[in-house]
Amino acid sequence: MIKRNNILKIAIDSPAAAGAGTLAKAIAKHYKLFYLDTGKIYRFIAYLKLKSPNKFKNKIIKSKIKSLKPKDLSNKKLLSDEVGTEASTISKNLNIRKMVYLFQVNLAYNPPKKYNGSCLDGRDITYKIVPDADFKFYITANLRTRALRRFKELKVLKKKITYSEVLKSIKKRDKSDFNRKISPLKKTKDSLLINTTNLNKRACFLKIKKIIDRKLNI
Ligand code: C5P
Repeated sequence: MIKRNNILKIAIDSPAAAGAGTLAKAIAKHYKLFYLDTGKIYRFIAYLKLKSPNKFKNKIIKSKIKSLKPKDLSNKKLLSDEVGTEASTISKNLNIRKMVYLFQVNLAYNPPKKYNGSCLDGRDITYKIVPDADFKFYITANLRTRALRRFKELKVLKKKITYSEVLKSIKKRDKSDFNRKISPLKKTKDSLLINTTNLNKRACFLKIKKIIDRKLNI
């Protein structure tokens, strides 16, 4: 695997709908880093499974991941609650995690040349995908706040779903993501905790920026 030297690597883990994606995107843009929302890769695989359950075979998934382009991950269909729930199920499968591993590591350590580094968010980024990241954050918010944020996002996308359904789904996803045996979501000792419950997007961004700038001496 090719590893670029002297790049900035930021690793973020978070439970569903904690606002990590929005923050990671803003941080990546500010420091000119390649941004990868790793949840989208699991959503992409989950979408393939929901679309053609009969074609859900290791060989086919492997070739789909091999030819996967970052732009494939921007398909709006990946955002539904149904796909998120299925992603949480298939992500417990060790074979699938192994297939996704290299795709993530390659982009984290060898981002396209025009970027100064990479910023990845997910569930196991701080301890499995980019364990030597320059900055590690664990971004969270309380359950109801997360459910409300996700509910509003889904409403904008005109999805037919109620707040209590979203709440139930996020609770189920948390249970699975925190308790699974393979790559569970956890806050590592060397990750900085950012609780976004009472902070707006700008305040969260500035909090993280201050931490990064101080260490980089900017
Ligand atoms: O972040 P997002 O909610 O899109 O992720 C969907 C699901 O994919 C998560 O609930 C989790 O089970 C799985 N996932 C994972 N490892 C990652 C990112 C996401 O297992 N690095």
